Amino acid sequence: MGTNVRRKTIVANWKMHTSTAEAAQLANGIVKGLSPEERVSVILCPPFPYLALVGELLRNTQIQLGAQNMYPANDGAFTGEVSPTMLLDLGCKYVILGHSERRHVLGESDEFINNKVRFALAAGLDVILCVGETLDQRNSKQTEVVIDHQLNSGLANVAEAELLRISVAYEPVWAIGNAEHHATPQQAAEAHAMLRTRFAQIFGKSAAGALTIQYGGSVVPADAAAVLSQPGVDGALIGGASLKAEDFLSILGAAVGCFRNDFESGSYS
Ligand code: PGA
Repeated sequence: MGTNVRRKTIVANWKMHTSTAEAAQLANGIVKGLSPEERVSVILCPPFPYLALVGELLRNTQIQLGAQNMYPANDGAFTGEVSPTMLLDLGCKYVILGHSERRHVLGESDEFINNKVRFALAAGLDVILCVGETLDQRNSKQTEVVIDHQLNSGLANVAEAELLRISVAYEPVWAIGNAEHHATPQQAAEAHAMLRTRFAQIFGKSAAGALTIQYGGSVVPADAAAVLSQPGVDGALIGGASLKAEDFLSILGAAVGCFRNDFESGSYS
């Protein structure tokens, strides 16, 4: 069996959804339905206003709390922003950075995302860095160039000692929130392999072997096992399907099954 057995990591990105009552109900439903399974890491990322509430409901469970964004300063005159110190104070361990909605809707630059990545790590948050190409970029055969650039710029000047606190989420923009236009499991596997190769060229083989790369883009219970069983797909970042406890639990079940198969067959690398 290989020594690089990476756990599957399943992240729920609730985006700008839920109310107080819905957030509590969803978190409770996931906590209640989760079977004790140490081989899958589960992270819930509710909207900022519900972090404290959800954090409280996750206390003494194996589920971790994450945020969907942060500003790269500990405090100061940044109206409307939230600092990593505040997120840590609320019990967050993770932060999602570079999500395509922030790149394309909110106009975040590569440089700003890199600032956030470095600041988050220095402050003590682990980072889930999202990368992914648009449909035009894929159609014009730019996928590799785009995700290579986003990886390079996102991780510029990150110290080697911090690499274990970073995971990458490959999220093709055209497959996000798009039930009709899924990436095939093969397309996901190809992009993950490319990302891992590039990561190895930048940071070395051993760091690349330890890197968790999640796939994101309309993953639903029906196709979770197909994508999660691809080589090099180490988990998933789930948007829409994370808003129903039943669907999210079913995806977690698929992740547990895939990990067990890989682990027992020794095919995980
Ligand atoms: P989706 O969102 O699962 O709704 O496509 C994934 C994401 O944007 O993180």
